[in-house]
Amino acid sequence: MSLVQTTPPNTDANVDAPMHRPICQLLQRHFQTLRNQHMRDMFADDPHRFERFSLKLGDLLLDYSKNRITSETMQLLVKLAEEADVAGWRDKMFNGVKINNTENRAVLHVALRNRSERPVWVDGVDVMPGIHAVIDKMASFAEQVREGSWLGYSGKRITDVVNIGIGGSDLGPQMVCQALKPYRHPALKVHFISNVDGTHAEETLETLDPETTLFIVASKTFTTQETMTNAFSARAWFLYHAQLECHIARHFVAVSTNAEAVVAFGIDSVHMFEFWDWVGGRYSLWSAIGLSIVIAIGHENFLALLQGAHDMDEHFQHAPLDQNMPVIMALLGVWYNNFFGAESQVILPYDHYLRSLPMYLEQADMESNGKSVDRNGQVVDYATGAIVWGASGINGQHAFYQLIHQGTKLIPADFIVSMQSHSSLQSHQDILVANFLAQTEALMRGRTLAETEASVGHQPYLAQKVFAGNHPSNAFLLKQLTPHALGMLLAAYEHKIFVQGIIWNLNSFDQWGVELGKQLAKQILPELKVDDVVASHDASTNGLINYYHRWRKAS
Ligand code: F6P
Repeated sequence: MSLVQTTPPNTDANVDAPMHRPICQLLQRHFQTLRNQHMRDMFADDPHRFERFSLKLGDLLLDYSKNRITSETMQLLVKLAEEADVAGWRDKMFNGVKINNTENRAVLHVALRNRSERPVWVDGVDVMPGIHAVIDKMASFAEQVREGSWLGYSGKRITDVVNIGIGGSDLGPQMVCQALKPYRHPALKVHFISNVDGTHAEETLETLDPETTLFIVASKTFTTQETMTNAFSARAWFLYHAQLECHIARHFVAVSTNAEAVVAFGIDSVHMFEFWDWVGGRYSLWSAIGLSIVIAIGHENFLALLQGAHDMDEHFQHAPLDQNMPVIMALLGVWYNNFFGAESQVILPYDHYLRSLPMYLEQADMESNGKSVDRNGQVVDYATGAIVWGASGINGQHAFYQLIHQGTKLIPADFIVSMQSHSSLQSHQDILVANFLAQTEALMRGRTLAETEASVGHQPYLAQKVFAGNHPSNAFLLKQLTPHALGMLLAAYEHKIFVQGIIWNLNSFDQWGVELGKQLAKQILPELKVDDVVASHDASTNGLINYYHRWRKAS
């Protein structure tokens, strides 16, 4: 197999990109020597493999020894990171350089969780005072809601908070609120409406009392069709009960970069929580987009989340590349993606509270690195972002693990486990951990024909019961799923995505690929409401529109 390339080969590709450097030819040659080696032999040959290929940072351990690597592999991959100038780009990001070139923006989610005294400059302005001011404003507002002094229009305290947003304005806060449920205020429920399918809003609203519900309209742009549609429906539902527009102020707040649109919606700018264009949507849970998180878990716990991320930022900034957790995660991904031809990466949390993490990482990773044009505008001729997918690991064992163990595809897996559960049922926890361990061992070792026969006896269909093994996995062990540990974990993934983007010469911080569909939907929407037969699209789209038309009329 050669360095995994796009087909047909692209002769206009950027030959200066890191993936075209001679180091990749060395990696390619190394791959040829390693591709048929089995990890069970590597473990047999090296009793210190775990110590050699694991890294502990605070309460987070990464064991990457069950990967198809040797010390030489890691040296070569680190050399690739050096040649790609990962360190230089990282410093540019932390120093507010506008590395998001297509949008002419800095990339500073790291500033949002900068817990040091260090100033961060953008266009000659230190952004830290503004960040601290918003954190303080969120803290004071959240405290009023939590202690019951923020009252609804009829004088009752708030019992339910509804975040209306989509993409980065939904997935991050939703995942974190779920992950940190044990830290949540006992008398406050947090809900999330994202889908423009009316059933999402209706199902949520039918459980709520308008007198005690607070809506957070969370949208960076405040123009997103789904979010604004849901926000207007929530507003109509609220006004149906509250009658007077002046009551909106007690029940609707906004999180946005677009003050004008917030005011036009009817929300007082005093009740707007600001963030900035240098915060990407999928990197925004650390910003005011995290308001629902602060209300749910309180200011101190939110600060602990930020501190965890900051600790990972510090590690990423200062640890040598070969001992740098996000860099190692990124390089392993490149190894499988570009040399083994792996197409996907599965995320397998063994913690019920982390069950939304795979979905969150889908956006974080695929919206960042799912690109075939590099930062210089040239079409790439190598594979970029992997397909990220996954689900709760223990449930996956009874669903899709069959394919990971015995299918024809190589699927590198990330296992994420909390050693100490928030549950008091210790026997459950031991079963959960035993299963995680068993799965990583089975994926790595497999079971030969001889072992299978020795285990199950001589019986028919032995071949179906053999496991080839040699399936790579990382294991992340958290001491416990605390706000701090979650912050560390999420920041590690963010920086992994960043490093991969640098190696693939991508701008990981724009998302032009989501625009075309949005534009077409706006064009099609009025066409659904006219009486005429639509003929302005291709035959399939016309056919579907007209079929829907006929159904709409008839019903
Ligand atoms: O359509 C994609 C996207 O732009 C994401 O990048 C973003 O997280 C999401 O939509 C929501 O955008 P906004 O916060 O502006 O409503």
